[in-house]
Amino acid sequence: MSAPTLPPVRTQSDRRRPGTPRRSESSAPVTVRGLRVAYGEHVVLDGVDLDLHPGETVALLGASGSGKSTLMKSLTGFAPVTAGSVRVAGFDVTAARGRDLRRLRAEVGQVFQQFNLIPRLSVLTNVLTGALHSAGPLNLVGGFSGEHRKLAMHYLDRVGIAHKATEPARSLSGGQQQRVAIARALMQQPSVLLADEPVASLDPRLADSVLDLVRGIAAEYRIPALVSLHVLPLALRHSDRVVGLRRGRMLVSAPTSELDDARLLPLYDHEDDGDDDLD
Ligand SMILES: Nc1ncnc2c1ncn2[C@@H]1O[C@H](COP(=O)(O)OP(=O)(O)O)[C@@H](O)[C@H]1O
Ligand SMILES: [Mg+2]
Repeated sequence: MSAPTLPPVRTQSDRRRPGTPRRSESSAPVTVRGLRVAYGEHVVLDGVDLDLHPGETVALLGASGSGKSTLMKSLTGFAPVTAGSVRVAGFDVTAARGRDLRRLRAEVGQVFQQFNLIPRLSVLTNVLTGALHSAGPLNLVGGFSGEHRKLAMHYLDRVGIAHKATEPARSLSGGQQQRVAIARALMQQPSVLLADEPVASLDPRLADSVLDLVRGIAAEYRIPALVSLHVLPLALRHSDRVVGLRRGRMLVSAPTSELDDARLLPLYDHEDDGDDDLD
């Protein structure tokens, strides 16, 4: 696997400048402590602690409604946090507003179940939209620089579909579209990669290859990847660590090598669930 050779294209050059306000001292790109999230009276996460380290892939497991997507939203300031601290790429997420919030979000590359590409645009243009966070809206008028195009082709090559660059995104298979979405996230040159059910719409063979790609990218670019999944064997095959939520609380946090189906099945135990809130 070759290391990235191109220079970073970051027009917002101060994004990583040390010593700017709200940058934390912590070396982990993601540090969550005592996180509580509530939608009105409904507490959906409580007492969640999470560290994500460079290069590791962490599988986020839990039954539907256990709070996986909400945890991801907490990392980008899209969830109503009522207690605890969330630090991402040096930003205090719960305190960040305005420009800081935009800069924080530019540091977080995201991949979704439905790929969220613009179907009629070319694969290359879809990948280039990942640079809009840092390059700014002027590029929509003036076009992307040659340097950005070169970088986009580099990432398309990395995800194995450079030969599709000029095709409209809608003409690609699901597995290929998710690869485009991964390349688009990489265009942000993110500090963290979040993938919310990235393979839920793919058949098992493609699911394996996409998760393999995500893990390889996390290791190669030295960024953490948090990947929510609902198929246990996939989590056990494609992660370094597992975090398991049950009704908003962390039930499991352990290296994948120490886990098996038996340890993880309680995450899906609904017997005493009812409709009660956590509190
Ligand atoms: N915007 C919202 N408003 C109210 N409740 C929400 C909202 N988003 C999520 N929830 C609730 O939070 C809980 C966790 O949801 P979610 O994080 O989507 O779980 P998962 O991704 O594990 O399926 C669910 O009970 C869901 O109904
Ligand atoms: Mg979800």
